[in-house]
Amino acid sequence: MKVAVLMGGISMEREISLRSGRAVAKALRNLGHEVKEVDMGEDALLQIYGLKGWADAAFICLHGRWGEDGTVQGALELLGLPYTGSGVLASSLAMSKSASKEALASKGIPVPRGITLHRTILDMELGAEPWEEVELRLGYPCIIKPDREGSTLGTTVASNRDELLKGLEEAAEYDEIIVVEEFIRGRELTVGILGVRPRPLPVLEVVPSHAIYDYQCKYTPGRTRYLVPAPLPEDVATSLQEMALSAHRALGCEGVSRVDFMMDEAGKVYCLEVNTIPGMTELSLVPKAAEAAGLSFEDVVSEILASARLKLFRRKPE
Ligand SMILES: Nc1ncnc2c1ncn2[C@@H]1O[C@H](COP(=O)(O)OP(=O)(O)O)[C@@H](O)[C@H]1O
Ligand SMILES: [Mg+2]
Repeated sequence: MKVAVLMGGISMEREISLRSGRAVAKALRNLGHEVKEVDMGEDALLQIYGLKGWADAAFICLHGRWGEDGTVQGALELLGLPYTGSGVLASSLAMSKSASKEALASKGIPVPRGITLHRTILDMELGAEPWEEVELRLGYPCIIKPDREGSTLGTTVASNRDELLKGLEEAAEYDEIIVVEEFIRGRELTVGILGVRPRPLPVLEVVPSHAIYDYQCKYTPGRTRYLVPAPLPEDVATSLQEMALSAHRALGCEGVSRVDFMMDEAGKVYCLEVNTIPGMTELSLVPKAAEAAGLSFEDVVSEILASARLKLFRRKPE
């Protein structure tokens, strides 16, 4: 097949995306495909347009906005170029932590208690005090995140009102919608979902060296320990895998996703988010979990490629 690997982009996660894209391109070549690596810049639309006629499929390795959030997927739909992974709606829904949590909760998947604020609340002239609702409904410690960002960017933990206000301002640098959640102390677990007929990979436990799994812990080798399969009783692991598969389905994801969880000290599990384009460097979590299931990096890439299609239903006009 002729495959265009879309990578880079203009999101905050550009560097990670380049790493994912290069690893995927290499694997695709090993699998015998003809590959073009496309570093998506400001003129992304023209770049995609240029692929028409050459590419059989686009393999999307973009993380974050303008790539993981349905925008590029929409452009590819308009162009008629089949692409890997989730469609427009699922991508966009999963990108928003607040919207996806509502969709997950409506299917009975437990999520942390939280509230959603708009950046305008930081504008004191409106009269609303941003901490009031947080203190009333959540208390401290709480965690503050931009709604549509990844890699823990703009995310901080607050133990008092001062830290909350600083955290809101920090998050507001990344998005106009801000999510504040109860802070769940406990273990961090993640489950990859793979395949056109989606199935869960073994549960992976992340043991970061910082209080939260932040940018440094995610991308600096040696900062985090990874346990796969996670040391959990079999029934607990199975129920996490089932919950991850329900989350993947609840948002309408396709091809691949990775569902992040926290388990509190009492063993209660909360779903934090669903990533529709999880990292694909050789050190990333989905490839690691796949390896524990006996799948090579090439196997994972080949299964994701098999998900390439146009996802919006087309019915020709009479
Ligand atoms: N409610 C929470 N309680 C405790 N830790 C959290 C909570 N939400 C997020 N975290 C920590 O922050 C990290 C990033 O949050 P997450 O929601 O997965 O966003 P993203 O990975 O897209 O930045 C998590 O991996 C976890 O370490
Ligand atoms: Mg995450």
